[in-house]
Amino acid sequence: MNAIQQLVTDETKAIAADALKVAEQKLNSLITNHPDLLPLYTKNGKWSHGDPAWTNWCEGFLGGQLWILAERTGETSWREAAESYTRKLRGREFDTEVHDLGFTFWPTWRRWYRLNGQVEAKDIVVQAGRTMGLRFNERAGFLRSFLAEDSTFIDIMMNVGIIQYAAEQDNDDNLRRVVERHCMNTRKYMVRGDGSTSHEGIFDLETGEFLRQTTQQGWRADSSWARGQAWALYGFGTMYAFTKNPAYLETTKLCADFYIRSTGDRLVPPNDWDEPSPDLPFESSAAAIAASGLMQLAAIMDDAGQAEQYAAYALDTVKRLCQPDFLASENAHWEGLLQQGSYHETKSLGVNESVMWGDYFFMESLDKCLGASWVTTDI
Ligand code: GLY
Repeated sequence: MNAIQQLVTDETKAIAADALKVAEQKLNSLITNHPDLLPLYTKNGKWSHGDPAWTNWCEGFLGGQLWILAERTGETSWREAAESYTRKLRGREFDTEVHDLGFTFWPTWRRWYRLNGQVEAKDIVVQAGRTMGLRFNERAGFLRSFLAEDSTFIDIMMNVGIIQYAAEQDNDDNLRRVVERHCMNTRKYMVRGDGSTSHEGIFDLETGEFLRQTTQQGWRADSSWARGQAWALYGFGTMYAFTKNPAYLETTKLCADFYIRSTGDRLVPPNDWDEPSPDLPFESSAAAIAASGLMQLAAIMDDAGQAEQYAAYALDTVKRLCQPDFLASENAHWEGLLQQGSYHETKSLGVNESVMWGDYFFMESLDKCLGASWVTTDI
């Protein structure tokens, strides 16, 4: 029994079960009313709109939510929907345009493979991992972001696990080396001494030298974008679960401690902790990612006392997100599950809305409250 299962009360389980019921209603409406839509963020609470995506990275989160419901309810209709939305992603395993194939294939084809054990499903996941590995810049030692040859993002830490998985399935030492160099360079250049993280890093492509930290979705180059912090604590934790490399555990804890210290009793951070007088008080998707990432950390670490502290903070966060200013339980017209998320404040995309990844990671954390004991490497 991990720390979450030890600490979670019947009251919290009931709250989580009710929230999943709300998820069932929202998802049923989404897939019934918009069967071809793979949304990214809402506009005025509606999933269907013509606003830009910036980049195509969210297509796996709807299928992932449906798999969570399929497993938790055991209902055939959710299973059929999950399979159907997973099939829609066929071909994306060869997509070299994005750095997000972990986000796309891990919640979908990887879950399906765990349940059906079919070689075809595994091959698709492994191919997605190999394709992600093609983003590697050999001279500088990093996986490039979708944006430019010289750029890497902290978000990529959520997409290295699938490369590690492909390396293990193929017994490919070169791919293992690619993942390790990227992770160690992210650790070195983008995780600061206090545990905060930079969103984007820029390298000199001629010399391979690291040039500077910068940001796309945070406030400033030297500030702390909360969602990036959550990606870091979750992603380094996943790499520790895969490899047992103590450097990854150390970095996970450093990032987690900064996250908790900065967010404190509010339990839900703003978009960027350093921004003075932000327009919006909260960015709920960062809290959902962090809750699930902290639950993973609590499950993979040996120190029971520390694990309990991370688990307790994660459970408090989930309970906070289940209150009606975040959970859209009392807002029938709002099509998303979790309110007060933001995608890209600088570009004014999906600001103070529901976002697909927020709903997905929130559902992951609800699932873990209700007894799912998996960590990312198991799904
Ligand atoms: N592109 C990943 C994010 O917006 O967090």
